[in-house]
Amino acid sequence: MKIIETDILIIGTGIAGISLALKLNENFNIAILTKTNIEESNTYYAQGGIAASFDKFDSYKFHVKDTLIAGAGLCDEKVVEKVAIIAPSLIKDLVNWGVNFTKFENNYDLTKEGGHSKRRIFHKEDYTGREIETNLVKNLKLKKNVEIFEKFTAINLISEREKGQSVCIGAYVLNNLTEEIIAIKASYVVLATGGAGKVYLYTSNPDISSGDGIAMAYRLGANISNMEFMQFHPTCLYHKDAKSFLITESLRGEGAKLKLPNGEEFMQNYHELKELAPRDIVARAIDFEMKKYGITNVFLDIRHKPSDYLIKRFPNVYENCLKFGIDITKDMIPVVPASHYTCGGIKVNIDGMTNIKNLFAIGETSCTGLHGANRLASNSLLEAIFFADRVAKFLNKNFEYRKNSFIEDWDSKNVSDTDEVILIHQNWEEIRKFMWNYVGIVRSNKRLMRAKRRIEILEKEVQEYYWNFKITMPLLELRNLTTVAEIVIKSALKRKESRGLHYTLDYPKTLDVAKNTIVRKKSKDKYEYF
Ligand code: FAD
Ligand code: SIN
Repeated sequence: MKIIETDILIIGTGIAGISLALKLNENFNIAILTKTNIEESNTYYAQGGIAASFDKFDSYKFHVKDTLIAGAGLCDEKVVEKVAIIAPSLIKDLVNWGVNFTKFENNYDLTKEGGHSKRRIFHKEDYTGREIETNLVKNLKLKKNVEIFEKFTAINLISEREKGQSVCIGAYVLNNLTEEIIAIKASYVVLATGGAGKVYLYTSNPDISSGDGIAMAYRLGANISNMEFMQFHPTCLYHKDAKSFLITESLRGEGAKLKLPNGEEFMQNYHELKELAPRDIVARAIDFEMKKYGITNVFLDIRHKPSDYLIKRFPNVYENCLKFGIDITKDMIPVVPASHYTCGGIKVNIDGMTNIKNLFAIGETSCTGLHGANRLASNSLLEAIFFADRVAKFLNKNFEYRKNSFIEDWDSKNVSDTDEVILIHQNWEEIRKFMWNYVGIVRSNKRLMRAKRRIEILEKEVQEYYWNFKITMPLLELRNLTTVAEIVIKSALKRKESRGLHYTLDYPKTLDVAKNTIVRKKSKDKYEYF
């Protein structure tokens, strides 16, 4: 087996992984992996923008307050404060890397989204993620100390024991094109693998979001926290041919109204902030109205704004809706909630460290304490770049070479080409369907138990494929998705209250004391809860 040696292995080329690579000292050798093309990431599709208090009427204190309210009592206040204070300087870093945020008469055109009491979202029209990702990639490609591995999928992390604890020393990786499995050995490994939105049937996320980092870290014994808090974005385009297209919340920030098919508004019945209430409340309100009237979707209406303004401010939404015959200047936009963001993830401290030595996690794959039980809009790009900065500062100061680690050969004996590709696809569909039906916006013990029984059967089947058939990217993703689904279900069963994004009919009240759930793999099939 080929073994590549490097100082730091970063898995993921979204905002978290690349901004880290750009901030690490140039004397480190860095390998950075991405499982498809370098730009393909959740980051690329971000629309609304990135939050930072900048306006003269704003202060980091308001940003903290809004984040804590959205987080429903479960945010780590110290983390929230640190992030909100530094946010404007991280925006400056992005600008220095070439990100051209939209301006109005020489001032940044700050927009508003649900849960924000002030205008504080930096954006590039409605394609902020594309603007950020393309500029980050441009800078990354200039770095001589960074080797980029495109179409390489990390399979498993590798560890060794030291003084009774696990130390991460690299990863086994599949070359998607040649199907060769190699090992990348590193003194430090950073997971920047994004979220797990694909665990649900309907999602705003691209296909890469199969929770690989969370599953890999879990298999190694990392603490995984708060996975019951999967965020549903209230407004994804509802159209039979549209796959995963988001209708940005900044449309509501600029005055769009949610309406029933007969044109009636309904958000006034749910929250004083109406369309700009925190996301969990808006998504649940839509879900409730859809069930009440037996309708497939609701509508978003921004037709009262001038057409010229809409086309200039929301070109991405305008053009994409037009492809499906919807002209947002003249038509109401059909929308439904869809899974959008993984608030939980690999538990890390303020420096992005996991409980496994030399393993870090940043960005959506991590659980940092910033989002609590519900993420405030436009806080995730911010979280990713903040923690990348922290990890860079930590490693630039504390890096220690790890010598003499031994990496075992990958065992690929007794495996054959799978003749059952269709089964992988079917299992993938089945998981995503029952997660949608039983572990969705409104939960109950009965539905969760149904999901638990199904996932336990599927887990066994998928393990069988994994050990007996040749490894492919779809098989790896299915395996990871199965693990993540199981963790979400078990975390949801563990939480005996409704809080933030976790709403259950059996425990509708919020408990006085807010606690994080943590899941850790104990032995082969055992979970440990704290
Ligand atoms: P990602 O950008 O998702 O990158 C993950 C990377 O990991 C990819 O390169 C992928 O190939 C790689 N990877 C994964 N698994 C493996 C593996 N096994 N091996 C190798 N590589 C792997 N947030 C905001 O703050 N503001 C917004 O306006 C906003 N809008 C959004 C709109 C949409 C449609 C979506 C989907 C999300 C939005 N979000 C927004 C959320 C935000 O985009 C993400 O949380 C953020 O971009 C995550 O960045 P990341 O670097 O952690 O992961
Ligand atoms: C959006 O543009 O609505 C997405 C913002 C976010 O997820 O933070």
